[in-house]
Amino acid sequence: MNIKNVVVIGSGTMGSGIAAQLCNADIPVILLDLKTEISEKAKKKIFESRPPLLIDKSKIDNIKVGNIEDNFDLVGKADWIVEAVVERIDIKHNLYEKISKARKPDSIISSNTSTIPLKVLSEKMSEKDKKDFCITHFFNPVRYMGLLEIVSETSNDLNKINFLKNFCEDSLGKGVIICKDTPGFLGNRVGVYAMQVAMTEAIKMNLSIEEADAVFGRPMGIPKTGVFGLYDLIGIDLMADVLKSFLKELPSSDVFHEVAQEIPLVKNLIETGYTGRKGKGGFYRMNKKDGKKILEAINLITREYSPSKKIDLNLDEKIDLKELVLRNDKYGKYAWSVVSKIILYASSLIPNVTKDYNNIDEAMRLGFNWTKGPFEMLEELGVKFFVEKDNKLKANEFIKNLYNKKTESFYGKRQNYTNLETLGKVKQLAKIDKDNASAITYQYKDYKIVEFNTKANTLDYKSMDALKKASDKNLIIINEGMQFSAGVNLNYVMEFAKEKNWKAIEKFIYHFQMTCKQLKYSNNLVISAPSGLALGGGFEVLVQSDYVVAHTNIVTGLVETIVGLIPAGGGTTNMLYRWTQTQEAKKDPDFAPQKVFDIIGYGKTASSPIEAKPYKFLLEKDKSIMNRNKLLSVSQDLINEKKVGYKPPQQPTFNLSGDQVRGKMHQTLEKLFQEKKILEHGMEVGKKLAFVLSGGNTNINKELSEDDMYALELDAFVKLIEMEKTQARIKHTLSTGKPLVN
Ligand code: NAI
Repeated sequence: MNIKNVVVIGSGTMGSGIAAQLCNADIPVILLDLKTEISEKAKKKIFESRPPLLIDKSKIDNIKVGNIEDNFDLVGKADWIVEAVVERIDIKHNLYEKISKARKPDSIISSNTSTIPLKVLSEKMSEKDKKDFCITHFFNPVRYMGLLEIVSETSNDLNKINFLKNFCEDSLGKGVIICKDTPGFLGNRVGVYAMQVAMTEAIKMNLSIEEADAVFGRPMGIPKTGVFGLYDLIGIDLMADVLKSFLKELPSSDVFHEVAQEIPLVKNLIETGYTGRKGKGGFYRMNKKDGKKILEAINLITREYSPSKKIDLNLDEKIDLKELVLRNDKYGKYAWSVVSKIILYASSLIPNVTKDYNNIDEAMRLGFNWTKGPFEMLEELGVKFFVEKDNKLKANEFIKNLYNKKTESFYGKRQNYTNLETLGKVKQLAKIDKDNASAITYQYKDYKIVEFNTKANTLDYKSMDALKKASDKNLIIINEGMQFSAGVNLNYVMEFAKEKNWKAIEKFIYHFQMTCKQLKYSNNLVISAPSGLALGGGFEVLVQSDYVVAHTNIVTGLVETIVGLIPAGGGTTNMLYRWTQTQEAKKDPDFAPQKVFDIIGYGKTASSPIEAKPYKFLLEKDKSIMNRNKLLSVSQDLINEKKVGYKPPQQPTFNLSGDQVRGKMHQTLEKLFQEKKILEHGMEVGKKLAFVLSGGNTNINKELSEDDMYALELDAFVKLIEMEKTQARIKHTLSTGKPLVN
């Protein structure tokens, strides 16, 4: 069998997302909805979505739209029919009846339901249809969320289910976990329970919503939306529906009931239109005062809003879960109460809901973006510690068994849901060098792996040390975090700036440059395998690697000017070199510097490998991979293919026209300044960038070496960081996450 044509029925949030991901994989898809709903609108929404659901706008041509009255015959052409209509069983049943009549005999039908059991969905189907029917539960937004749960039954044609699993892994890039037909499957069963525990405990313990989100967030390896922010994001009304369905499906003995009862405040929010970000606001809302937007947070007792407070938990950057739950303050108590309940609940699901506890962790990682699942948390805390910490804790069979075995380490293999040789699996087999706070180095087969290891994988002196040391072997730079690297660690740089220690900053940037140079010119291959953000310094690592094996969701670009700096880890020079290799540059020596001036000056970013190529952030030789789990094995294959006879590149030289091209750039800046698109400091940063890209005090006949260019970059960077207005930009971005225009 083969999946060459897909029909998606229902063009709402999920149907559109699934259709868009099929487009990204170049699978022709037909999107059907009610006649009145006009899926044409959905197509426009997909096209304009932010963050983009498409990896390239041109992919939209893979979608054709229609309605279920006039175009239902198209179902007959589909190899796979995905039902993603409203969560109403009568509507779904009706649709299956029509599908049954129209479909090809060997096609697969699946539902995207999040709450209706498979056996209920299929209760009216013929035996033949039942064989070909399963649940494919995607997560929103489909392009970005890694998890796909496939729910099947013994009555299914297992070959087909396996085929679909492989297709969704390979072509759609999903981490596919096969689940039993139990309420909420794995992700939502544990994820929604965790949210409810986090919410109800916060209310019980009198924490503000900001306090709860500060604890049930980054410190626990959970996205910073925490619980109340996530509620707003998902939709408070949708969450209420999900809870109702859990209450209906789960036996009253299930402790889910304890945390899923209606909360008066939540009911009131829904009734008054505060359904979250899509409504008037939710637990948080944006308010305008004196023309300024202010984020406000609700008080759980008085129900009044006031400006949201930033909570400082006073934690180290590397957070130790044990330390967190041992804190003798309300935050520690809240953390323990929430973590212990989640671990107990997750472990109570073994073996009935899933035999493999690892699947629960993976579902939380892929479906909720947790860095570790409940069982990894248990491993980190230690079973003995977990059981003995609190004598009120009622251990279940799973925990008791572990405790009686007296083994501290029970976890074993990771990512059991896939046969791919993933980074998560290889890390367990590889020899580890942990002797560096910012990166871990692994030795595996005949190559090394460096995995950055800081918050958002920002880079500092030690990250560079790790790369430098590891370049004595063929090297793959890859990680399991959300981001490849968000750039240089600006907190680290600002520490020196506060002390006016410019020499230390210069030393760090020089070290950065020399490390990247070593990556580029060592006799070994260097492959970067990014996913997530690869910005600023993170991008400079990519651009100086031999090859990039990129996940389709990467975001690349040099964004330093936004914080009043210029790329000085070789980024400016290497982008310039790439553009000097074009036909246009051969005819016009000022073409490349001006082009790169625009790209870096505006801090342009690309949100997929396809978008990255026109900027030359990526080149033809680089690879684009839909399934993140494959990045490592594709990188390994590339090493094997290229290692014999590998020769590092020649060092480039540059002939630049100095003040001739600089004059043109200054004119551009003047114009932007006149139009008030940039202010004084924008002008200043632009001029420094222009100085570097024009080659400084040079002329077209003078040959500049790469080191000359690096020296110009370094000088510009240090001069800029010394300026108060650059420091103001950095401080603003670090505290608000937003740019400062000054
Ligand atoms: P939605 O409300 O955004 O879209 C539903 C679409 O179905 C609408 O465009 C509606 O016009 C269409 N529709 C209704 N009756 C139809 C019919 N007879 N024939 C064709 N189209 C019809 O809903 P959403 O959020 O996309 O959910 C769809 C399914 O996915 C539901 O089963 C839901 O439980 C499930 N789901 C939703 C998630 C989410 O985050 N929104 C996540 C995972 C699953």
